[in-house]
Amino acid sequence: MSEAEQIERLKRIIEEQKITISQISHEVRNPVTVINSSLQLIEKKCPAIREYPLWQDTMRDMKYLLRLLDEVSSYNNSTLLRKEVLDTSTWLSGFLSSLSRTVPAPFSLSWQVPPALPAICADPLKLRRALENLLRNGFEALEDQGEVSFLAEAKKDALCLRISDTGCGIPQERLDTLYQPFVTHKPDGTGLGLSITKRIIEAHRGTLSLETVPGRGTTFTVLLPAGPAVEDHR
Ligand SMILES: Nc1ncnc2c1ncn2[C@@H]1O[C@H](COP(=O)(O)OP(=O)(O)OP(=O)(O)O)[C@@H](O)[C@H]1O
Ligand SMILES: [Mg+2]
Repeated sequence: MSEAEQIERLKRIIEEQKITISQISHEVRNPVTVINSSLQLIEKKCPAIREYPLWQDTMRDMKYLLRLLDEVSSYNNSTLLRKEVLDTSTWLSGFLSSLSRTVPAPFSLSWQVPPALPAICADPLKLRRALENLLRNGFEALEDQGEVSFLAEAKKDALCLRISDTGCGIPQERLDTLYQPFVTHKPDGTGLGLSITKRIIEAHRGTLSLETVPGRGTTFTVLLPAGPAVEDHR
């Protein structure tokens, strides 16, 4: 088999797997949604059940399961882009100011978005998801206090976005597996956040990198090709 044929075969296998993952998560979601509705109905009809210790665990597990199914489908769809030309400065400022309203005290989000950044050609929902994952990780890394900051700047033919936190940092031994799906160090994490983010950024022909100092904080840098006429590679 020639190299080109092998690559074609690999691409076909990857596509087939994507369909299988979609089908499985779709099939699992239906009964899970029915069970979730039944649990909510039981709780409404018999409020006393909330006092039963296993009940809270069951509801928490159900919430986790629904989130996991959402994340698996996001992972699977992260490379399907509906691109449009974005007025970067306006789009980023709107997104950050709406997100800042959800930041719990005593933490804070600061941002610097210059007014005339170059336009980008991007899928706004997917890009928002990718940036939200990085910002959420930043806030989750903070201990008693601290800050997450967002800096945007134009760099040659690219838009450069930096998400920094003053949190716990990432130990060296975790770096090799950081972007692998299902690798988490949080009790209720799915470990899909960074792998989804990386897939979304790379689908936009961008790059994701990081610098971290344990105990001091972490900065993730996203570089995206700038310009409204960027070719649409799906
Ligand atoms: N800014 C950060 N500071 C410190 N550790 C981080 C940071 N970002 C990611 N990590 C580490 O990388 C791991 C993987 O992150 P990822 O976002 O993929 O999953 P998660 O946050 O654990 O779960 P989920 O995103 O589903 O809530 C985290 O569990 C955490 O240990
Ligand atoms: Mg995360």
